[in-house]
Amino acid sequence: EKDLGTDIAKVLIPEDQLQAKIRELAAQIDADYEGKDLLLVAVLKGAVMVMADLSRAMHRHVSLDFMAVSSYGSGTKSSGVVRILKDLDTDISGKNVLIVEDIVDSGLTLSWLIENLRTRQPASLEVCAILRKPEAVKTDIDVKYIGFDIPNEFVVGYGLDYAEKYRNLPFVGTLAPHVYSS
Ligand code: PRP
Ligand code: MN
Ligand code: MG
Repeated sequence: EKDLGTDIAKVLIPEDQLQAKIRELAAQIDADYEGKDLLLVAVLKGAVMVMADLSRAMHRHVSLDFMAVSSYGSGTKSSGVVRILKDLDTDISGKNVLIVEDIVDSGLTLSWLIENLRTRQPASLEVCAILRKPEAVKTDIDVKYIGFDIPNEFVVGYGLDYAEKYRNLPFVGTLAPHVYSS
């Protein structure tokens, strides 16, 4: 097994910058939801790192739940047609819900999810995403808590995968060309 590092062309966001941003977002969320219940909903699998770090950087009680969705379509593009693979365990009606995502790319996954969760009548529904791409900025999706706006490059690490690999990198980076050609 080759070393992970040899597959990385460029580190886009190093670990310390990710963690500093996580602490910043956690403090903001702590303040905004003071005195209120809060349920964090992460979208499997990409959001697991953000969920783990963000929730531990907060200084309050939170509940955690997870959804797994699959968007039809092939390769690196999602189609907007989404199927629920694993639904929430909890009833969110009347609850303050914060969706936790790793990246908003086309925004199709998130716009579907927001509509779906809204029908369950939560008290409030907001989104926290550590990364956002230019295409998503053009959509009308309101991401209240955003980590970094990044260029339109294919990135991996900190939860993001290429063919299910590289999720466990502690930083966000781009892949070397040889990874795609082999
Ligand atoms: C990725 C990413 C987001 C979504 C963003 O998930 O984690 O959930 O795509 O793309 P969009 O804004 O264009 O919809 P993916 O479907 O690859 O599943 P994964 O989280 O299990 O990797
Ligand atoms: Mn995902
Ligand atoms: Mg993926």
